[in-house]
Amino acid sequence: QLTTMVKICCIGAGYVGGPTMAVIALKCPSINVAVVDISVPRITAWNSETLPIYEPGLDEVVKKCRGKNLFFSNEVEKNVAEADIVFVSVNTPTKTSGLGAGKAADLTYWESAARMIADVSKSSKIVVEKSTVPVKTAEAIEKILTHNNKGIEFQILSNPEFLAEGTAITDLFNPDRVLIGGREETPGGLKAIQTLKDVYAHWVPEERILCTNLWSAELSKLAANAFLAQRISSVNSMSALCEATGANVSQVSYAVGKDSRIGPKFLNASVGFGGSCFQKDILNLVYICECNGLPEVANYWKQVIKINDYQKVRFVNRLVTSMFNTISGKKIAILGFSFKKDTGDTRETPAIDVCRGLLSDRAQLIIYDPKVPKAQMMKDLSTPKFEWDQPGSTVPVAEDSITKNVTVVHSAYEATKDSHAICILTEWDEFKSLDYQKIYDNMPKPAYVFDGRNVVDVTKLRQIGFIVYSIGKPL
Ligand code: NAD
Ligand code: UGA
Repeated sequence: QLTTMVKICCIGAGYVGGPTMAVIALKCPSINVAVVDISVPRITAWNSETLPIYEPGLDEVVKKCRGKNLFFSNEVEKNVAEADIVFVSVNTPTKTSGLGAGKAADLTYWESAARMIADVSKSSKIVVEKSTVPVKTAEAIEKILTHNNKGIEFQILSNPEFLAEGTAITDLFNPDRVLIGGREETPGGLKAIQTLKDVYAHWVPEERILCTNLWSAELSKLAANAFLAQRISSVNSMSALCEATGANVSQVSYAVGKDSRIGPKFLNASVGFGGSCFQKDILNLVYICECNGLPEVANYWKQVIKINDYQKVRFVNRLVTSMFNTISGKKIAILGFSFKKDTGDTRETPAIDVCRGLLSDRAQLIIYDPKVPKAQMMKDLSTPKFEWDQPGSTVPVAEDSITKNVTVVHSAYEATKDSHAICILTEWDEFKSLDYQKIYDNMPKPAYVFDGRNVVDVTKLRQIGFIVYSIGKPL
């Protein structure tokens, strides 16, 4: 029965579910794809002219397929019941209370999705873990799926997603690899793996589709994110040493990356990595290591997060000390708030920690980001952080201080006018080509630039008259 696959349903219409399913629908015109979510506003947005997420190229893909073989719906149960393959792409945040709080993955959404699948299914299904989950989750999911033993066959596969935000569509069109983990030891498992492989084979070359056992697939996702984040923490740790010694971190990264064993990518020093996954997935990895009696391994990976927190605190401290140890009442322009360019996503963006650090020193912030709405920034800055997720100052920033001391504006020129300092926190392309002479002329002196993303030409800005601090560059 599983071989006559025609219908896919994806539970969770988020950053992963939406773009992934849109690309499957585009590349596989013979497959019917339904993306379902419990959130009514999300589904409404997917069905509107303004999609709920910004991703270059996404609008075009959705427009080509929506209403033909791609559907967005809040009718979760009906679509799941009708599907042959059910992807589960719900969020898996860090647990905020109870056992493993601050580290373990919260599988509440996942479990409720699995129970629902078990309850509404009347035919055999392949259930695909698309969300990033702890290794061994498939075992628990299998138990939940078969708990009411209706004689239906469920095959579980792990098919983690490696797309990065801002490049989701090109990553999906041309993935380095697609990973499919399943029960290789059983005929049913092998058949399920083949069925999913056939979907991707519509556009992904065969040799890039890797098939493994379930646990390897689950762990490879956590490992890949940990390795990527580790590269950033490694180069960021070097950036501190560069500043202390007069080396230039861009030159160091270039020289190091020229070694073909190391490679040039992902070696840009920054104010710290952000995004919804790196920190969450490493914390989860750390927790799994601890649970498996491997404290040394856990501590090794914990260090990647510690350096990331250190880098954000170091940036704030550098700013405050450079400005005569007081920024109280001073206007500071914040250029960029999203966690990286070409996305409006602010989850775990380093801008949150940096802004909160500056606010706790009573600065006045004028923030500009081309894609992040004001309401989102205000929400991010005023949402209390948990104890384990609060680098630097543990003094909470009072809500009224945020509304009083934060202004959000619509251009970089507006933000920088009359500001004592400029902080670049996201590498948006437009920040490279600003008229810095004009900006300088509109600022009180001394005028400072603190570049957290190595965006500006330091020499040029110094010639204009700015005092420039750029991560990992000679002072
Ligand atoms: P998201 O929060 O954008 O989307 C998740 C969606 O699931 C939400 O819209 C939510 O309403 C919905 N949902 C939750 N429970 C549900 C239920 N029971 N029934 C129906 N819908 C439900 O999350 P995301 O960024 O798409 O991430 C999803 C998973 O993919 C996470 O595990 C994440 O680690 C992983 N991942 C994310 C990225 C990324 O770039 N964001 C990349 C690779 C992997
Ligand atoms: C990351 C991974 O790159 C994806 O492969 C993975 O699927 C995804 O996490 C996930 O599991 O969610 P993403 O978080 O969207 O993707 O973005 P990245 O491009 O990896 O950037 C993450 C953060 O690291 C950003 O804040 C970025 O500015 C920072 N970064 C990246 C650096 O500071 N230096 C670099 O050299 C590269």
